[in-house]
Amino acid sequence: MKKIIASNFKTNHTRKSTKEFIENIDKFLNDENIENEVFIFPTAVALDEFNTASNLSVGTQNAYYVENGSFTGEIGTDQLDEFGIKTILIGHSERRHILGESQKEITTKYNYYKALGYKIIYCVGEPLEIKEKGISDTLGYIQEQFDGIDLDYPNVIVAYEPVWAIGTGLVPSVEDIETIHKKLKKKFTQPLLYGGSVKTTNIEEILSIPNVDGTLIGSGSWKIEDFKQMIKITNKNGEK
Ligand code: PGA
Repeated sequence: MKKIIASNFKTNHTRKSTKEFIENIDKFLNDENIENEVFIFPTAVALDEFNTASNLSVGTQNAYYVENGSFTGEIGTDQLDEFGIKTILIGHSERRHILGESQKEITTKYNYYKALGYKIIYCVGEPLEIKEKGISDTLGYIQEQFDGIDLDYPNVIVAYEPVWAIGTGLVPSVEDIETIHKKLKKKFTQPLLYGGSVKTTNIEEILSIPNVDGTLIGSGSWKIEDFKQMIKITNKNGEK
């Protein structure tokens, strides 16, 4: 399987710059014959019917587990269906730790979107105080983030993203990523991405770690030329 690369825009890019970004990347993937799976998660207001011709999928960073209803500030599947969006990010650390989503809510959301056959990128990862307690506490913490989550679902991609590495420029050691990915890959056969301060300068080394099936990138991917460079490196990094 070819390595996967995903860009999470978080609260960045406008509707206009998102459209330009997606069209540019779609053309680039076609022109360069790049067959890796590529995902972009724009803000909800920038979602649209993009009609991508390449292996690029556009997903939503979040949605509530409803078709429609009275859930102020949320979107449901009626809004996603309008644009044919069938990919969702669930369990991202910013939703868990800043927006306060509980494991129970995350599990409900997972099951809802699983039943609809969505491609789910499911994120897990430990905060710094847990990492400092060592590997067994870290793995125990991550295990709880799999509570109620069906890892046999064929359309899930898991992303390991240590909370303390997200947006900080800090990256775990190669040994730490290798150890955690090896342990996690014993639990499921679906792809396992690494995320947290992936940049043009470190992506090649990260992709070379065993059991890293690709990357989920935030800040390092928001400039189009940087994202293209990382796609090229991902493409050249070969099959797993
Ligand atoms: P970062 O974010 O690349 O800015 O660290 C990664 C993520 O949150 O997915």
